[in-house]
Amino acid sequence: MTRWGTRWTTAAAAVVAAVAVHDLRQRRHAILRNFPVLGHFRFWLEAIGPELRQYIVTDNDQERPFNRDQRRWIYTSSKDLNNLSGFGSDNNLEMAEEYVIIRHVAFPAPAAPKEAPVPAAKVLGAAHGRPKAFRPASIVNISAMSFGSLSGPAVEALNRGALGAGCLQTTGEGGIAEHHRHGGELIWQIGTGYFGCRTTAGDFDLGRAVDQVASAPVRAIEIKLSQGAKAGLGGVVPAIKVTAEIAAIRGVPVGQDCLSPPRHRAFDDVDGLVDFVETLAAATGLPVGIKSAVGEQPFWDDLADRMLARGEGPDFVTVDGGEGGTGAAPFVFADHVSLPFRAAFPRVYRTFAERGLHEDLVFIGSGKLGLPDTALLAMGLGCDMVNVGREAMLSIGCIQAQRCHTGRCPTGVATQSPWLTGGLDPDLKSVRATAYLMALRSELARLAGVCGRAHPALVDLDCFELVDHGRRAVPAREVFGYEPGWGLPSPADQAALATIQEDVDVH
Ligand SMILES: Cc1cc2nc3c(=O)[nH]c(=O)nc-3n(C[C@H](O)[C@H](O)[C@H](O)COP(=O)(O)O)c2cc1C
Repeated sequence: MTRWGTRWTTAAAAVVAAVAVHDLRQRRHAILRNFPVLGHFRFWLEAIGPELRQYIVTDNDQERPFNRDQRRWIYTSSKDLNNLSGFGSDNNLEMAEEYVIIRHVAFPAPAAPKEAPVPAAKVLGAAHGRPKAFRPASIVNISAMSFGSLSGPAVEALNRGALGAGCLQTTGEGGIAEHHRHGGELIWQIGTGYFGCRTTAGDFDLGRAVDQVASAPVRAIEIKLSQGAKAGLGGVVPAIKVTAEIAAIRGVPVGQDCLSPPRHRAFDDVDGLVDFVETLAAATGLPVGIKSAVGEQPFWDDLADRMLARGEGPDFVTVDGGEGGTGAAPFVFADHVSLPFRAAFPRVYRTFAERGLHEDLVFIGSGKLGLPDTALLAMGLGCDMVNVGREAMLSIGCIQAQRCHTGRCPTGVATQSPWLTGGLDPDLKSVRATAYLMALRSELARLAGVCGRAHPALVDLDCFELVDHGRRAVPAREVFGYEPGWGLPSPADQAALATIQEDVDVH
């Protein structure tokens, strides 16, 4: 052995010996005391388990929340690459239950160009005469994800991506940051922490709310009651992510867990919620809505009853499925609290439809709806728009490492580490976000055509069947128990949409 070889061997042996001594003397990990040095492999393998499974072990449809096929569709769409598949479906239809099949017509409409706009069928805020009512330009928009849980470059990439695709970005409950101010229009979310509109005591401050709205291109306000992944809990940004910048925006101490309470202090019942909506709408002129996961039914009955009686209340309702994402949540909340989207949304829609309110209210859905099949079914169930959260993250480079809660996201999307965020280039990733958003939107328009409908909003449950074990097919209308006309915009909105579509076709 050469002189260098001997030195390296001695150094390596010294490191191994030092690690072995450390392992034998520490008391925290039995496995290291029992298996010094070797025991570290267990921790290392556990740490890289998700990546190992993702790249080597699992097949195309096994992983969750998003399997390889789904991620590949998002990645290739965002990079404007070939997003087709070859050889046929590898889904296991013979075993699947309630597998969604889209009913095609014999003579589908020709596909519109990819860039063709696909606006919402309803005018947001029109039913309550809000001065700044508007027709959202896109049926696909970006879901609430705060600066804090996401990095600055990620928020910027999404904001610029939204601008490119002509869609809205919901801010998340962490307030409006500089990273949100790159031209993309916003839905400003107000959570229980009232970040950006709070007094020093943590109460809601209307004056500050009006100032916030005036400071950015805010088109609507979303009052967050809950989100699917942690319904009943407030928000949490772990201490490692609470940098000086985030602390300043939120008005909280640096380097401590930033918690928002589980409920609002500005109201404590349904009438109070309706008052809060009306106060915000009157002070800003904007449409105002709520976001909620779905648990108990009496809340929704009460809300619909009070809206009917008062002729007031939210202009839109965002229903978030229990399978939705989060920056950080306890396992049991993510896994077991609040209904999944397919059970949750029809319940809420029915509650308003039975009172004749469904044509006036704008319905937004979220919870793994960033894929063509799930989004189309959501439109069939009555969503006017879908919000995409994690799918938008994937489009800007997220690899589903599931480390959002640790502050050590390897792709710089959900971390505040300057080293890791340095790898995320907003110039490049904003283009990818735009490409993904437009691909999803145009795929929805194409699927509507396949169902013989001129626009995704005109897709109803007659366009679907649910198949069990590859043989028993049941019409979706029967499964969900929808009345005729449910899931569609009013005749007046349909007529207005037809005129807009004609304009699009002509130009
Ligand atoms: C990193 C991260 C942060 C989030 N932050 C918020 C938030 O501030 N407010 C909120 O209402 N929902 C938040 N959500 C939930 C999303 O807005 C969305 O409702 C949920 O992820 C379902 O959509 P998806 O399946 O397309 O991700 C967050 C989700 C993620 C993954």
